[in-house]
Amino acid sequence: MVTGITVGIKVGLLGMGTVGTGTVEILLNPKDRHPLMKELELSRVGVRSMAKPRQFQLPEERLTTDLAAIVNDPSIHIIVEVIGGIEPARSLILQAIANGKHIVTANKALIARHGSEIFDAANRAGVYVLLEAAVGGGIPVVEPLKQSLCANRIMSLIGIINGTTNYILTRMQQEGGDFAHILQDAQRLGYAEADPSADVNGWDAADKISILAALAFGGRIKREEVYCEGIGQITAADISYSDKLGFVIKLLAIARRWGDGEGDQPQLQVQVHPTLVPKSHPLSSVNDVYNAILVEGDPVGEVMFFGRGAGAGPTASAVVADILNIAALLTVERGHQRQSSGYPVLDPLLACTHQEYYALIPITHTKSRFYARFLTHDHPGVIGKLGTCFGNRNVSLESVVQIGLREQCAEIVVVTHGVNEYDFRAALSEIETLNAIHSIPSVLRVL
Ligand code: HSE
Repeated sequence: MVTGITVGIKVGLLGMGTVGTGTVEILLNPKDRHPLMKELELSRVGVRSMAKPRQFQLPEERLTTDLAAIVNDPSIHIIVEVIGGIEPARSLILQAIANGKHIVTANKALIARHGSEIFDAANRAGVYVLLEAAVGGGIPVVEPLKQSLCANRIMSLIGIINGTTNYILTRMQQEGGDFAHILQDAQRLGYAEADPSADVNGWDAADKISILAALAFGGRIKREEVYCEGIGQITAADISYSDKLGFVIKLLAIARRWGDGEGDQPQLQVQVHPTLVPKSHPLSSVNDVYNAILVEGDPVGEVMFFGRGAGAGPTASAVVADILNIAALLTVERGHQRQSSGYPVLDPLLACTHQEYYALIPITHTKSRFYARFLTHDHPGVIGKLGTCFGNRNVSLESVVQIGLREQCAEIVVVTHGVNEYDFRAALSEIETLNAIHSIPSVLRVL
């Protein structure tokens, strides 16, 4: 643990890609920002190649390709990890923690998968690992969940926390285009990665909701238990029918408390999937690359956070805020106290100290409204048969609409009331066996 700071808090930056460059830009321009920024010194910057042309000229001796040398530098107080990915980020962070350094990271994939190992190590070493930039880019949501909302029992989090998919779905909504074509265009314009799989399959949003759920509900989440469906199967037809029924389709990340909320360890539902959102709902108007997170707490009620969820400036805004949080604590804690255990005392609202894992409710045991689109042979009594199959499984229908003909089949769209997913799937299995059914092109959840 680094102690005795009187002036100059040294920061080591690992990575100078988009977020790293944004961070350097803020650190080199403290004017009109928080006065504590003047105490920060960007001591060393780890880069992949010394030869790469850069937006900012840093003295050559501050740059190095030896990232281990930065985490092992005894003069550095705070390590900022913005290289992303699992390795070498994980090993570098663990080494930095072992060396008593505080960590600021934007690495949601790493924290969602290895958060337990990292936070255990950090708590033993008495250092902070702050990660505001890992979720929602420039939107302050991690710190509000830890601090400003800490008096609440959090009931649910519902977020649009992936900008790439929100951009694609917004364009599909506005242009009526198909997924594959708009994805290609988004890649051409730089809104989607060359390999878009983490975004379009919902994995990035699942990483982020795992982190938010752990913070909001005070327990650990096994990332592999988070149910995750991407947007690749969304068609222009579904966007158009949803629109006519009064919905927009959004990729939602949802974490919800189940049960009476009185127990110490609530049951949790954590999932990511495309969802029909009523046009009257506040998340329906969050468009393009914007992110938003709607938190419901008891007693605060609903609070919504909105802003830019990615990009150099917004993400660096969150990174530097975390650096300043740690710098403020270091400044106050000169000659800091130690517990009788010998471990340094950590601010309990900023540190992440929960230990137990939540058992997540399997998706089949959750309750939802559903939208399903059927292509059927245009025979008398088909709607009746659909209704009977649903009724047999206790699935109550809110609306049934026969839209017209497609591929010489009648197209029927059904929206259910809230039903058990298991019952709904059982009804669909039975419907699939009916001679009158040609296919079930889409099944989506409704908020
Ligand atoms: N790929 C992410 C998104 C940005 O599209 O939202 C960083 O989290």
